[in-house]
Amino acid sequence: MSNYEDRVLKLIMMSDIHLFPKGEIRKGLDTAGRFAEAIGDANRLYSDADLCVFAGDIADSAEPEAYEQFDQLRVGLPVPQRVMMGNHDDRNVYLASAESPMTDENGFVQGFEDIKGHRILMLDTSEPDMHIRYSVLCEKRLKWVGERLAEAKALGLKVILLLHHNPCAFQMPVDTYRLSEPDRLMKVLKESGAQIIQILAGHCHITTAGSWGGYPCATIKGNQHSVEPYFRGRTEQQACYSSPAQFAVIVSDTVNCAVHFHDYLNNATMMDPSLFPNKANQLFEEVDRDYPFVASEN
Ligand SMILES: [Fe+2]
Ligand SMILES: [Fe+2]
Repeated sequence: MSNYEDRVLKLIMMSDIHLFPKGEIRKGLDTAGRFAEAIGDANRLYSDADLCVFAGDIADSAEPEAYEQFDQLRVGLPVPQRVMMGNHDDRNVYLASAESPMTDENGFVQGFEDIKGHRILMLDTSEPDMHIRYSVLCEKRLKWVGERLAEAKALGLKVILLLHHNPCAFQMPVDTYRLSEPDRLMKVLKESGAQIIQILAGHCHITTAGSWGGYPCATIKGNQHSVEPYFRGRTEQQACYSSPAQFAVIVSDTVNCAVHFHDYLNNATMMDPSLFPNKANQLFEEVDRDYPFVASEN
């Protein structure tokens, strides 16, 4: 049995990168510069990650030049990478120039990776011909999801499901363009009997954690602007913020699955380290060699 540390999955998910053709600034935000910061942080702190997934809205308006810039900026991260599509993307434009894209047998930009006891399942909820706000999980894609989940169950893998559109309602206006017909996906998940330990999405540009139909479900802010919580009864305009931007780092040993939210372009002030001398030389929890022990489900 290998060291515990070597058996812990480290998975980065970046989302809502919203790149433009080189040199463009929209809404006052240089998303390319911001994404370079994200790649820099990932390089500095998480270059030992097993996988980095870019979970859609790669481009702001699906320009070929935006995808070109994306490839130029991410090349500096020495971590295996997978690219997903969001509603601001155009699958056909992306695929026209993508090198070794992740696609399924039907040509959708979706796939899976089995790492350290997990199946990381990455869905394509985009549709090139649809209005920019909408999402689709058609019969073909739902069937594919069901098959991949059945395999995961048979292999005893814990599933981490990544998709661009948040399936969970937040009681916010963004619910009007969350994942379309979420009940259809939930039915497939429930009927599979697979152990889904985490669902993570982007799209909504806000950090949330909670559950959807009993499944742990979280969302991240992403690389562009973020929004404030905004519930029924509010009448003034919802506030948007330029910072911090955010990506997620999931660490999981299959029993303990934690989603960390890494903020960048963070205006918080680092406090004087001398105020926290106990942080200078900390120990990590010692974990039994054979942990996690998982009882047979048969
Ligand atoms: Fe977005
Ligand atoms: Fe989106």
